Amino acid sequence: MPCLAPLGPPPNSRYTPRVATTHPTPTGAVVERADQLARHSTPYRDPTARVQWERLNTHSFWLPETALSLHGVAEFDRLPLADRQRLSHYEFIHFLQAGLWLEGIFLERLGRAAAHPDTPLSTRMYHLHELREEAGHSLMFLEFFRRSGLDVRKTAPRRDFALTLLGRRLPFDSALFWGAILLGEEVPDRLNRYVRLHAEGVCPVAVELSVLHSTDEARHIAYGLEILQERLARMPGPKRLLVARALTLLLKRFTKTFYYPPQALYVHAALPPGPWAERAHGNPVRRAFVARCLGSTVTRLRGLGLPINWP
Ligand SMILES: [Fe+2]
Ligand SMILES: [Fe+2]
Repeated sequence: MPCLAPLGPPPNSRYTPRVATTHPTPTGAVVERADQLARHSTPYRDPTARVQWERLNTHSFWLPETALSLHGVAEFDRLPLADRQRLSHYEFIHFLQAGLWLEGIFLERLGRAAAHPDTPLSTRMYHLHELREEAGHSLMFLEFFRRSGLDVRKTAPRRDFALTLLGRRLPFDSALFWGAILLGEEVPDRLNRYVRLHAEGVCPVAVELSVLHSTDEARHIAYGLEILQERLARMPGPKRLLVARALTLLLKRFTKTFYYPPQALYVHAALPPGPWAERAHGNPVRRAFVARCLGSTVTRLRGLGLPINWP
């Protein structure tokens, strides 16, 4: 979990925000979509209170075995069931840790935008709905950590400096910011959806987390798409090409963060000594899995006129 920058000015100081805060008037379509999604976010239902926590157990997989980074690696597939299940526990925790990092950045940006007096009322309200939902996810993840009984201290992903910096500094209303937001929502959501569709043999609490998260993300993704579409519509072709190139790079970085754990995680999961991270990176089954998961995201971006070069 990265350190979070302070959300507001220090008391009694002359504070100048370093982030560009342009707030162009949103189009009718964006306002309408914000109102519609805000209605669907009401009444708010706390996901942590909805999970049936008593069903959490460590004698099942926490991710489908086919969703593990080492699935298909002969040295891993030969390990006893308990070892493979244990890796699934740590890979799921690693996945939630990456979510916490990203949601921390969303919370900062949404909080600032919602507090900005120039932001129109509809979008301001929608931002607060999304902020409340992201905070709810983070709380649910932390509750999962608390109840898991695992030592989660060394399970965070590599902190991607470029993604963190861009997430904090890109102008809030830029196409690139909303493209990055969309990727940040879509890349983990594709795995959540996979878990929901391949839930057999997976701990029901892990499935519940994925389903609850995915339900809210569908709204966040719809909003991100609406804004991105609106920003791209006013953008000349060459600039759009630059945005597509930047998003291609960001997609690769998000994928690495969420789908390829560092070597430390495999050590932490007590796998026998071996170059496990290297094996995961060279694993053609994993590459095909990731390409399948994110195929629809890439198609969606291409449908917006962004020639994403991936995989
Ligand atoms: Fe979330
Ligand atoms: Fe979200």
